[in-house]
Amino acid sequence: MRLSELWGPCVVFIALSGVGVNGQGFTDTYITSIVSPEFPWPYPSDIQRQWQIQTDVDQMIIIFINYLDIEHPWDTLTLTHSAAHDTSLTRIPLVSGNLTSLCLPGGLTTISFCTDLVQERGGFSLDIRFYDANVTGQLFDDAFKCASGIETIRNEARCDGIVDCHDFSDEVDCGACDPDSFQCRGSAICILPSRQCDGWSDCPLSDDEEQCDTLKCPEGYSCGESSYNDRHGPVPSACSGPQWNPFWVNGTEPWFGQSLQNVAPKATLLNLNGLPVMELNISMFDGMRNLHTLDISSCQLERLPPGVFRKLSRLWKIVAINNSLTYLENGTFTGLVNLRLLYLDYNLIMRLDEGCFTDLGRLFFIDLGYNQLSEIRPGTFKDCSSMERLVMPKNHIESVNSSVFEGIEKHLKIVSFRDNPLHSIAPGTFDGLTRLDDLHIMSTTTKRIQLFPEIFQGLENLLALVVYDSRFCCIAPERASCVERVPSHPLFTCRKTFLQNLIIKIFMWILGISALLGNAFVILMRLRWKETTSAGSIQSIFITNLAFADFLMGTYMIILATMDLYIGDSYFWEGRAEEWRSSIVCQIAGFITFLSSEASVFLLTLLTVDRFICIIFPFSTYHITVAKARILTGCIWVFSFLLGLVSILVNYLNPDAYSLSDVCIGLPLIRKSVDLYAELDENTQSRYDVANFNTVASSTVSTWEFSIAVFLGINLISFIVIFLSYIAIFFRVRYVRGQVGRKGKAANEIKMALKLLFIVGTDFFCWMPIIILGILIEANVITISSNVYAWLVVFILPINSSINPYLYTIINEPTTTPHRESKK
Ligand SMILES: *[C@@H]1O[C@H](CO)[C@@H](O)[C@H](O)[C@H]1NC(C)=O
Ligand SMILES: *[C@@H]1O[C@H](CO)[C@@H](O)[C@H](O)[C@H]1NC(C)=O
Ligand SMILES: *[C@@H]1O[C@H](CO)[C@@H](O)[C@H](O)[C@H]1NC(C)=O
Ligand SMILES: *[C@@H]1O[C@H](CO)[C@@H](O)[C@H](O)[C@H]1NC(C)=O
Ligand SMILES: *[C@@H]1O[C@H](CO)[C@@H](O)[C@H](O)[C@H]1NC(C)=O
Ligand SMILES: *[C@@H]1O[C@H](CO)[C@@H](O)[C@H](O)[C@H]1NC(C)=O
Ligand SMILES: *[C@@H]1O[C@H](CO)[C@@H](O)[C@H](O)[C@H]1NC(C)=O
Repeated sequence: MRLSELWGPCVVFIALSGVGVNGQGFTDTYITSIVSPEFPWPYPSDIQRQWQIQTDVDQMIIIFINYLDIEHPWDTLTLTHSAAHDTSLTRIPLVSGNLTSLCLPGGLTTISFCTDLVQERGGFSLDIRFYDANVTGQLFDDAFKCASGIETIRNEARCDGIVDCHDFSDEVDCGACDPDSFQCRGSAICILPSRQCDGWSDCPLSDDEEQCDTLKCPEGYSCGESSYNDRHGPVPSACSGPQWNPFWVNGTEPWFGQSLQNVAPKATLLNLNGLPVMELNISMFDGMRNLHTLDISSCQLERLPPGVFRKLSRLWKIVAINNSLTYLENGTFTGLVNLRLLYLDYNLIMRLDEGCFTDLGRLFFIDLGYNQLSEIRPGTFKDCSSMERLVMPKNHIESVNSSVFEGIEKHLKIVSFRDNPLHSIAPGTFDGLTRLDDLHIMSTTTKRIQLFPEIFQGLENLLALVVYDSRFCCIAPERASCVERVPSHPLFTCRKTFLQNLIIKIFMWILGISALLGNAFVILMRLRWKETTSAGSIQSIFITNLAFADFLMGTYMIILATMDLYIGDSYFWEGRAEEWRSSIVCQIAGFITFLSSEASVFLLTLLTVDRFICIIFPFSTYHITVAKARILTGCIWVFSFLLGLVSILVNYLNPDAYSLSDVCIGLPLIRKSVDLYAELDENTQSRYDVANFNTVASSTVSTWEFSIAVFLGINLISFIVIFLSYIAIFFRVRYVRGQVGRKGKAANEIKMALKLLFIVGTDFFCWMPIIILGILIEANVITISSNVYAWLVVFILPINSSINPYLYTIINEPTTTPHRESKK
C-alpha cells in the first residue's frame, strides 16, 4: 500500500506510518489527513491537486469526513476508485456536508481537488485510514448507509430534499413530494426548491437545472445561458467543467421594486443597466450567491446602502457607471471579499468615507473618474491592499497628500490623476511605489504644480509618465518614457534655474555693471568736453547716443541678473516661466532691450552712411551737419521707441506675431508646432487595452512675424547697408592712399571711418550670427533648443554693449582730445 500525492508535476509518495489497535479491537492504520490547501494570492489560474491511495485486496480504506464545505460548481472535490478485484470505476463527487464517511474496498483511490482559487467557504478535511476487510460492517451502526455501500451519511440528512448519496438512495422511498419541492423526472426523488437552478445537478437526469431561464427569470427580465464570455462574467472555470454555463439575467423592464431573490441563484451576471432602479433594497441581492458580475450602470442610484452586497462573496466585478452616487459610506462594500473590478466613474462622488472600502482586500482596479472628489483622505485605500490600478481622472483634486497611497504601495502599478486641477503633489507621495509602472499626472490648472527634485525617487519600475506639464519630463526617471499629451511650449526648457548656470549669472553681472559704468562714463565725458570740429561734434553726438543705447542694454542685463536672484530655482520648480514671461518686469526689460538694440543698429547705420557720404562724395551737399545729426538721432530714438511700443502691443494682441521669451526679447529663433492631431498612445493601448490619445504636431511653421520683420528684415537691411558702405569706403581708402597719401581732410575722414569700423564691426559680428541663425531656423534648416536660445541672447547680444565703451575710448583718444592732437 502506498499513498502518493500529486501536485502539478510533483509526485510524492508518503510512506505508511503507525499501526495500532483501536478501542474496539480492530487493527487500523492511520494514513494521512487531507485538508483543503491554502493557496497564495493573487492566483495565477485554477489549481488542481490530487492524492492517491493504493490498498491491497484484503484491506478497506475508510475516509472520514471531518468537514466538507465546497463551493460548487466552482470548486470540486472528486473521488475516483477502481477496485482491485474488478475493473469497475466509481466516480463520486464529494459535495454533501452530511457525508460522514466513505468506505472503499482495496484498490486505487484518487481524490482530486480543483479550485477557481476564490476562497469563501471552509473547504474540507478528510482523515484516511485502512482496516482489515472483515470489520467495517460493524463501524457505523448509527448512520445511514447509502445503497452503494460506499457512503455513510448522517441520519437526519435522509429525505431532506438534498441529495447526499451519489446513488440518490437517501432521497428515495420518502413518500409523497412536498407541493413546492421539485420532483425529478422519472423518479420519486424530491428536492428542495432552492436546489433547483442553483448551478448543480441534483436529479439523476439533471432536469433540475433545465429551463432555468424561463423558470427562474423574474417578469420583465430576460435570462439565459451562454458559454460566451465577452469579459462580462467568469469563463466557466476548468473545475466547474463543461456542463456549467454562465447564466445571465438582464433587466429589460423598469424596476417595480420586486426582490431579485427568486432570480436563479445560478446567475453569474445580473445586468440592470439603464433601468430606473432609483434605490437598492438592502436584501435585493440576497440569494444570488453565484453572482460574478453586477452591472448597475445608469440606474439613477443616489446611494449604495451599506451591506447591500454583503452576500455576494463571489462578486468579481461591479459596474456602477453613470449614477448619482454622492458618497460612499462606511461598509458599502462589506462582504465583497472577492471583488476585483470596481467601476464608479461618471457619478457625483465627492466623499469617500472612512471604511468605505472595507473587505475589498482583493480589489485590483478601481475607476473613480469623472466624479467630484476634491481630496483623497490619507489611508482611503488602505483596505485595498491588492490594488494595482487606481484611476481618478476628471475630478476636482487639487492637492495630493503624501499618504494617499498608504497601505497600497506594494501592488500599485497604475495611477492616474488625469485632468484634475492639481497644484500640489506632496514630496514623498510616490515613495515606496516600487511596482508602479504607469503614472498619469495631467493637471488642468494653468497654475503650475510645485515640483520637488526627489518626487519620483524610488519609482524603480516606472515605464511611462504621462503629463501635460513638460517639466515633469525633465525630472522623470531615466528609464521611464515621458509622454507629453500635448506638444510642449516652444519656449519650454528643462533649465532648473532662471539663468542657466553660474557662468552666465556671473557674466551677466560683470557685463551688466561694466556696460552701465563704462557707458555712463563715456556719456559724462562726452557731455563735459566740447568738440572743436563739426565732424568731431557729429561723431560725438553719435557716440553719446550709442553709449546711451548701450547703457540701456546694461540696465537690461542688470534687470535680468536681479530677477535671477529673485526667481532663481523657482523658475523651474514652481513653474514660473510663463508667469515671468508675461510679467511687467519682463515687458519693461524687453522694451528696453528692444529699444537699445534697434537704436544702436540704426545709429550705426546712420554713422556708417555719414562716413560713406563724407568719403565717397566729399563735396556732396547732403553732408550731415550737427543740427541734422541731432534731428536724425532724435528721429532714430523716436522710431525705435515706437517700434518698442509696437512690440509690446503686438505681444499683447497677438502672441503668435511676437512673444517674449525668458530673456524678454522675442528673437525669431523658434518655430511653432502646427497640424496637431490626436495619435493613439500605443503604450497604454498595448499594455492595458485602453485607448488614450496624445496630441502631436506633424510640422512646424514660422511664428513671430513681427520679430522676423524687425530682426531679420530691418536689421538685415541695415547691416547690408553698413557692409556695402564699408566695402565702398575700403576701395576708396586704397584709391585715396594712392592719390593723396595720409594728409588732408579726406584722410582724416577715413581715419575716423576706420576707427568706427571697430564699433560697427563688433556690433555686426554680434548680430550677424543671430540673423543667420534666424534665417536658417525660419527656413527650417536647423532647430535650436530653447536652452541655446537663452544662452545666445544673454551671451552674444549684450557683450557688444559692454565692450563698446572701451572701443569708444580707443577711437576717441586721437580725435577728441585737442591737446593730445597738438602734441602729435
Ligand atoms: C445536513 O442535513 C440537515 C437536514 O437536511 C441540514 O439541515 C444540514 O444543513 C445539513 N448539514 C450540512 C453540513 O450540509
Ligand atoms: C478479521 O480478520 C482477521 C484476519 O484477516 C482476524 O485476525 C480477525 O480476528 C478478524 N476480525 C473479526 C472481527 O472477525
Ligand atoms: C444580456 O447582457 C449580456 C451582457 O451584457 C449581453 O451580451 C446580452 O446580449 C444581453 N441579452 C439581452 C437579451 O439583452
Ligand atoms: C426589500 O425587499 C423585501 C422583499 O421584497 C421587502 O420585504 C422589504 O420591505 C424591502 N425593504 C425595503 C427597505 O424596501
Ligand atoms: C446616464 O443615465 C441616464 C439616466 O440616468 C441616461 O438617460 C443616460 O443616457 C445615461 N448616459 C449614458 C452615457 O449612458
Ligand atoms: C464602520 O462600521 C463598522 C461596523 O459598523 C464599525 O465597527 C466601524 O467603527 C466603522 N468605522 C468608521 C470609521 O466609522
Ligand atoms: C497629509 O495628511 C495628514 C493627515 O491628514 C496631515 O497630517 C499631513 O500634514 C498632510 N500632509 C500634507 C503634505 O498635506
